[in-house]
Amino acid sequence: MRRFQFAIFVQNILSMNETQFIPKLYTKKPENGSVSWQSPSNIALVKYWGKYGEQLPKNASISFTLNNCVTKTTLFYERKSSHGFEFEVYLDNTREVGFEPKIHKFFERVVLYLPFLTDYKFRIETSNSFPHSSGIASSASGMSALSLCLLSVEKSLSSVEMTDAYFNQKASFLARLGSGSASRSIEGDLIVWGEHPNIEGSSNLFGIKYPYTIHKNFLNYQDTILLVDKGEKQVSSTVGHDLMYDHPFAEQRFEQANNNLSFLISIFENGDLSKFIKIVESEALSLHAMMMTSQPYFILMKPNTLEIINYIWAFRNETGSKVCFTLDAGANVHVLYPEAEKEPVLEFIKKELAQFCKNGGFIEDQSGFGAVSV
Ligand code: DP6
Repeated sequence: MRRFQFAIFVQNILSMNETQFIPKLYTKKPENGSVSWQSPSNIALVKYWGKYGEQLPKNASISFTLNNCVTKTTLFYERKSSHGFEFEVYLDNTREVGFEPKIHKFFERVVLYLPFLTDYKFRIETSNSFPHSSGIASSASGMSALSLCLLSVEKSLSSVEMTDAYFNQKASFLARLGSGSASRSIEGDLIVWGEHPNIEGSSNLFGIKYPYTIHKNFLNYQDTILLVDKGEKQVSSTVGHDLMYDHPFAEQRFEQANNNLSFLISIFENGDLSKFIKIVESEALSLHAMMMTSQPYFILMKPNTLEIINYIWAFRNETGSKVCFTLDAGANVHVLYPEAEKEPVLEFIKKELAQFCKNGGFIEDQSGFGAVSV
């Protein structure tokens, strides 16, 4: 096949996949109603950093879905006859016009897959279980909760049966178009997003449940989030991902991430926590290394982030514990450890690490099983 024919062939396959999310004609026209979903945040073990096209990842990523850090969203809808999108967003009962441009952009991206968006006006009421100022990103939980609400509305407009598998896949597909990492917040407890040669069924379009054996060491994996810096994000994820475009180490980084995910497959199977730690911490530091070596460059860790990392390493050396850390694109530290170590590690956190957190603040969480309709 010639090169350009091959490109068209690939494009057709891709659009075939996307077409499955365009609904058949709606058969019902409810005047109004409301739906509610509660959706969790997630913490990536192999990081998504760098994207192309319409919210497609440059490498595959994997995350633990969280249990306690959640967004609850209620979507009220009312039929209208005017054209275009009409909606208002409320955070904790207060109108948040600041969120609306992002939602508008999201509506533009998904209207092909949710054509009823122009037939209704919406009131989006949302609240987070974690404080807004905690520096914990709400885009994953927020965009997944909104996507689930919208898809529930669509379900009520159609007499065509939607299987749970299709519902979850389309919800993840929509959530991805709102925020990449949100595609990993529909189900749990381990979710892969991004095509990976060794993971069957993996896709750039949506997240899937990790399909292979998971050793009991990884059940109810603990994540205590240390709130080092509660301020606004220094680098938005959009700006951050863009830094990977001309990055001198971009290709090596994407390859490294995919290799790390390959290594994790046998680690998840045999429960080797020492090897798990090496991959997870290296991923966190590589993500930050990418930001330090981009143009412009950023240091997103704070002195207390480093203090915490050093304390974790010392504790591990002294006690043989399997506690480790990971980081998002910010200064907060996610302390990860097996459920069997919950008591001693929590005591260590309270005694030694809380001193490095703003007002001693941290959030206790663990892996969970995804969004619920409420
Ligand atoms: C560092 O999903 O927030 O948390 O797709 O632009 O909304 P957008 O980016 P976003 O990026 C998350 C980056 C990360 C790593 C990860 O969660 O995989």
